Amino acid sequence: MSQFAELKYGDKIYQLPVLVGSENEVALDISKLRDDTGLITLDIGYKNTGATKSAITFIDGETGILRYRGYPIEQLAEHSNFMEVSYLLIYGELPTESQLEAFTNSITRRTLVHENIKKFLDAYPSDVHPMGVLLAVVSSLSSFYPNSLNPNRKPEEVDRTIHRLIAKTATIAAWTYKKSMGHPYMYPNNKLDYVSNFLNMMFGMRTEDYQTDPVVVDALNKLLILHADHEQNCSASTVRIVGSSKANIYSAVASGIAALWGPLHGGANQEVIEMLELIKADGGNTKKYIEKAKDKNDNFRLMGFGHRVYKNFDPRAKIIKTACDSVLNKLGIHDEVLDIAKELEEAALNDPYFIERKLYPNVDFYSGIIYRAIGIPTNMFTVMFALGRLPGWIAQWKEMRESNEPIGRPRQLYVGEPLRDYVSIAKR
Ligand code: SDX
Repeated sequence: MSQFAELKYGDKIYQLPVLVGSENEVALDISKLRDDTGLITLDIGYKNTGATKSAITFIDGETGILRYRGYPIEQLAEHSNFMEVSYLLIYGELPTESQLEAFTNSITRRTLVHENIKKFLDAYPSDVHPMGVLLAVVSSLSSFYPNSLNPNRKPEEVDRTIHRLIAKTATIAAWTYKKSMGHPYMYPNNKLDYVSNFLNMMFGMRTEDYQTDPVVVDALNKLLILHADHEQNCSASTVRIVGSSKANIYSAVASGIAALWGPLHGGANQEVIEMLELIKADGGNTKKYIEKAKDKNDNFRLMGFGHRVYKNFDPRAKIIKTACDSVLNKLGIHDEVLDIAKELEEAALNDPYFIERKLYPNVDFYSGIIYRAIGIPTNMFTVMFALGRLPGWIAQWKEMRESNEPIGRPRQLYVGEPLRDYVSIAKR
């Protein structure tokens, strides 16, 4: 196949290089387009535009493939754990035993946060949305660790900052929950693994030992793995563009948390449960809500359905749906909304509206049902998504910094007023 595409514009024909990725995806390289032709491209929402070359995650939306550093998500979800997958995403290879131990220990030793962060949390109203707190407090880490702001420091110093961020974000997330419950904060317990420590900080009480349930630990490891990265999604692209200005990693990740909060992105998992509860309260009338989702005059959307890239199925949704059944059975929980979710999926997959638009359940459709089953409240669901996505954001930031990418600065097509002179207010 020719490694060039030809563009005929005016009386000239231009040759544009065609790049081929390691999975045979092809991209038209337009980096010289404006210099050569005076043209820019316009692609609102970047539906057809690649922003970078990346070696972290591969998605094939047509065939439902998702791989982290070449490893299929199905195998990682089955055999790995969140710390190991975090190492894989950030450093590019599965760790040896000693590498994983060193990585995990470095994170474990950094789980404590500055005592002043409690003052931050105490200052918020009790009904504050946890994502607003996580966003602010993660950003504030830049104030507590001023010596780690320069992203170009020595690799071991960048590693320390990365480990600190992973460690403290879990503590901040758990303390945000404790604050919303009016419960005393639980300090990290360095004898516990990452997931068990998080659960202990979330649900442990000072008055009694908290027993982690291996079913819950396994389910949470799986959910965090499934959320860990997803190539150039809205929040990862935000982290990359903020990091491209050489802003510090705490600010770049905080911008990712902000982007993830949106209901069209990571905020969808909370919206899904609220939608399922609404349908349950309305007598479980799934047909009514399928029709509402199809009605252009109704702004109701089937939350947890549809995806910019997956046009067949989201492999994560398949894994989470299977895990739903197993976790709820093991915990002896019957959640009516799971039945409603399955009914909605069945109806949508047989409805021309959804089939024509290739709308399938995405990662957010079933995840909330498991979070709820393990005791996590609805308004913490997107915080859980952020906790899972953190190593992915870090890997994307690190890749962008190491490849010394230029500051991100898209162009635009101006459609405003042509030149006009100022008119004094008396004459308007
Ligand atoms: C995540 O990018 C990622 O990788 C994201 C993510 C990750 O891991 O980082 O996978 C995580 O964000 C998952 C998506 C979570 N969001 C939701 O579940 C919200 C509901 N879904 C959507 O709003 C929508 O499907 C998006 C935002 C996910 C994708 O939007 P697109 O690609 O911009 O598609 P679109 O909005 O242009 O929709 C195309 C058509 C439209 O109909 P027509 O105008 O062609 O008639 O499909 C319709 C839409 O109205 N449509 C839906 C729908 N989603 C799309 N109709 C009803 N219900 C829906 N959920």
